[in-house]
Amino acid sequence: MTRERSAYHELRIARIVQETADTRSFVLDVPAALRDRFAYRAGQFLTFEVPWRETTLGRCYSLSSSPACDAELVFTVKRVAEGRVSNWMHDALRAGDAVRVLPPAGHFVLDAGSTRPLVLLGGGSGITPLFSILKTALATTERRARLVYANRDADSIIFRESLAALAARHRARLAMHHHLDAERGFLDAAGLRTALAGETDAEFYLCGPTPFMDLVESVLREAGVPRARIRVERFVSPPDGAVPEAVRAAGGPQSAAGPRTITVHLDGATHELLYAPGKTILQTAREAGLSPPFACEEAYCGSCIATLVQGRVEMAACHALDASEIEDGLILTCQAKPISPVCEVRWD
Ligand SMILES: Cc1cc2nc3c(=O)[nH]c(=O)nc-3n(C[C@H](O)[C@H](O)[C@H](O)COP(=O)(O)OP(=O)(O)OC[C@H]3O[C@@H](n4cnc5c(N)ncnc54)[C@H](O)[C@@H]3O)c2cc1C
Ligand code: FES
Repeated sequence: MTRERSAYHELRIARIVQETADTRSFVLDVPAALRDRFAYRAGQFLTFEVPWRETTLGRCYSLSSSPACDAELVFTVKRVAEGRVSNWMHDALRAGDAVRVLPPAGHFVLDAGSTRPLVLLGGGSGITPLFSILKTALATTERRARLVYANRDADSIIFRESLAALAARHRARLAMHHHLDAERGFLDAAGLRTALAGETDAEFYLCGPTPFMDLVESVLREAGVPRARIRVERFVSPPDGAVPEAVRAAGGPQSAAGPRTITVHLDGATHELLYAPGKTILQTAREAGLSPPFACEEAYCGSCIATLVQGRVEMAACHALDASEIEDGLILTCQAKPISPVCEVRWD
């Protein structure tokens, strides 16, 4: 693990809120000196480092609080059967305890420039970033919103009362559709189309179990919604220590030696950087004094995603991107090493 270059902080748990039988929210106490560092956008997550036997495990948890509506930072954890960190959070963490945590990161956020309606589709714990995005959009924009939220049964609905209060307060702008497996079986394509009510001109935010996301993505793509308007957050854990097979990305000639320099576009500027063999693109950019986004450095959080404009890279691991995203030219810069004479990368 390359933790030393990531700035972990110790924050105290101020309070714990039992949301449902298997879900708890943890309210963080952020000291005044760290408030700027922990400023966040709705939809972002925190990365935690948690002690586990003789080692540590890294896990991401989305902020369920809204930067526009809530004074405190809150993350919400659902127990996963046999899951190590989620159960540790529930069973070991108490108010007053400190946790090691990286500042907020992630691209699953509201597009500030857009006025399109929002359609948020969540399953189970996938509601956490969507809840933050929904509260923020209703408080700070005029956008219409629709939430489709799938759960096992009524008792599993996380933030049930807060969601009902939001729906009542924003009756004219917010449509809310709860799907309960216990009543209607798993959500299927026909049920989803009904819940979407013909909404195709919106921006879509998806977060939930993989089969749920696959269903939603296929229904949206069938309805002609372009990929650029579908944002996806995947709740995955990084693998334990296994050295994964390398994933290659993009076409073009391959050269084991890699390039002498790489070109990177970041924050509207273009930089030509000297490339030392063996370094990742993220390392190269940071060592040149740039500040590209990153968090876990272990291929699972997606904070470091960039577009490969030219060339070819090899990624040691790639859990945060699916095959079609890799095909579209997205790469994880914390993993990607150039393997072609020319390499050009853009952080959007
Ligand atoms: C960006 C992001 C945001 C997230 N936000 C949230 C959030 O807001 N709320 C939330 O609840 N979760 C969230 N997650 C998911 C969270 O990070 C964890 O993945 C989740 O809590 C499970 O972690 P765990 O350690 O409890 O389970 P793990 O120990 O990782 O286990 C996961 C599953 O794998 C199985 N397993 C464990 N070890 C092994 C093994 N060695 N071999 C085979 N199977 C094994 C377990 O039985 C379990 O079913 C988010 C993830 C990401 C990437
Ligand atoms: S920094 Fe987390 S995937 Fe690259």
